[in-house]
Amino acid sequence: MRKKLSKKYGKVVALDNADLELYPGEVLGVIGDNGAGKSTLIKALCGAVIPDSGEIQLDGNKVSFTSPIEARKLGIETVYQNLALSPALTIADNMFLGREIHTKRLHG
Ligand SMILES: Nc1ncnc2c1ncn2[C@@H]1O[C@H](COP(=O)(O)OP(=O)(O)OP(=O)(O)O)[C@@H](O)[C@H]1O
Ligand SMILES: [Mg+2]
Repeated sequence: MRKKLSKKYGKVVALDNADLELYPGEVLGVIGDNGAGKSTLIKALCGAVIPDSGEIQLDGNKVSFTSPIEARKLGIETVYQNLALSPALTIADNMFLGREIHTKRLHG
């Protein structure tokens, strides 16, 4: 859940008291005009943007992240489109790109 999230870039109000709830297993689509604030909302949720005000609650507890790595530790992560993905890899491989699960090689 996020409550009244706001973010300004200089004078541009990118997010103005964005408020929504998400439940386990729920899939939510966010649609809006170019510049409506969709990306800013997602970035604020995953720690890539620090909101100016408002709070994010996870399972009823207030959480805040200063980086995407902190958000990931709590299970919140963004899979970016376009250039961040490799068409040569499977969807699953793309999701774990850069943090593949390694196993120790026993021989050789
Ligand atoms: N890093 C930034 N610096 C300055 N202004 C920004 C920055 N990122 C976004 N904005 C501005 O904030 C507003 C919201 O942008 P945002 O990228 O969140 O919209 P969007 O809904 O994702 O748009 P699109 O559909 O084009 O992806 C726009 O006016 C945009 O120009
Ligand atoms: Mg966008």
